[in-house]
Amino acid sequence: VFHSHLSGRVRPYLDLIDSLRLMGIDQDLPLPAITVIGDQSSGKSSVLEALSGVALPRGSGIVTRCPLMLKLRKLKGGVQWKAIISYKDTTTEFTDPTLVEGYVNEAQNELAGDGVGICDELISLEIMSPEVCDLTLIDLPGIARVPVKGQPDNIGDQIKRLILSFIEKSETINLVVVPCNVDIATTEALKMAQEVDPEGKRTLAILTKPDLVDRGTEKNILEIVHNQVIPLSKGYIVVKCRGQQQIQDKISLAEATRMERDFFRQHKYFSCLLNEEKATTQCLATKLTQDLVGHIKNSLPTLSEQIKKELWESRKSLSQCVGGPPIDPPQRKNFLVDTLTQFNNNINRLSAGEVVNDDN
Ligand code: GDP
Ligand code: NA
Ligand code: MG
Repeated sequence: VFHSHLSGRVRPYLDLIDSLRLMGIDQDLPLPAITVIGDQSSGKSSVLEALSGVALPRGSGIVTRCPLMLKLRKLKGGVQWKAIISYKDTTTEFTDPTLVEGYVNEAQNELAGDGVGICDELISLEIMSPEVCDLTLIDLPGIARVPVKGQPDNIGDQIKRLILSFIEKSETINLVVVPCNVDIATTEALKMAQEVDPEGKRTLAILTKPDLVDRGTEKNILEIVHNQVIPLSKGYIVVKCRGQQQIQDKISLAEATRMERDFFRQHKYFSCLLNEEKATTQCLATKLTQDLVGHIKNSLPTLSEQIKKELWESRKSLSQCVGGPPIDPPQRKNFLVDTLTQFNNNINRLSAGEVVNDDN
């Protein structure tokens, strides 16, 4: 559905990153990802849901309570839809998209307890389908302004610290989600994003709920989107996701995508945004995919330098072994036995008070 014409060009880079992640390389070398940040109920999970085509837990209050890494992989041919959810030492594979919400809730309850607590342990959800775009996204708990019953007084700081640990990484693209009916200048998430990325190189703002904009403020929204109020170098995109009523009416995501387009087409003030490529989830998906590829391209030289450096150091310590390593397996075994024997002899001689020559 989402710009499959892009994936041919995009795929190799994202595959590379996924393979590197799989090898555990991201423990040493940070790899790019996209995070979603904003106030509670600003629409973060709804944006991710629209991008992924997967129904995620959403609603009022604190719904997202652990970081959720959503890895979308476009698969062609044969495979319908498959997902793997993993956290701690649990890994579950399933093929029914309607089970996502339940599994994510179960994972959150396990990690953060039943209720309103949060936790910084990551839940990983990999979704393979012909209908998604190739993206890795991280959903984070929303910024709570006031603690609710059962939450510690410092919940706000706890959440901000958690968010900061993701957005401060220089390889992360930060999506700041702000509803159209909220004053963007007072948005904490935007302030946080600007603090960790003063030049705005990796900050993109998403304006949600354009259908709930206060009447008479449409022109203010246009000024924001046209970068005239709080300029961001990557700018703004307006998206309309499913509202609570549409969810209750069981409007499908595909239908919601069509309705989103119609909404903008027919809008007295916002229709111009379609041509400017500053509206719709589809437009956002395209922009994100291009951004991510650009980001990966930029970090490849650094990645490659670091890998070369580690390879060089490994070779160096290998060559310090006597005569260098032999190639064929039987000789390798002899080499290992010889080296261990020599090491053992050296220890014996050392403990006997002799001086051991390293070159022997
Ligand atoms: P989060 O807490 O930031 O993850 O926000 P959610 O995605 O859970 O959304 C909060 C509420 O806003 C949900 O009831 C959504 O259905 C609703 N919502 C999200 N986007 C839109 C939108 O574009 N229009 C309308 N009317 N409601 C929306
Ligand atoms: Na919410
Ligand atoms: Mg959420």
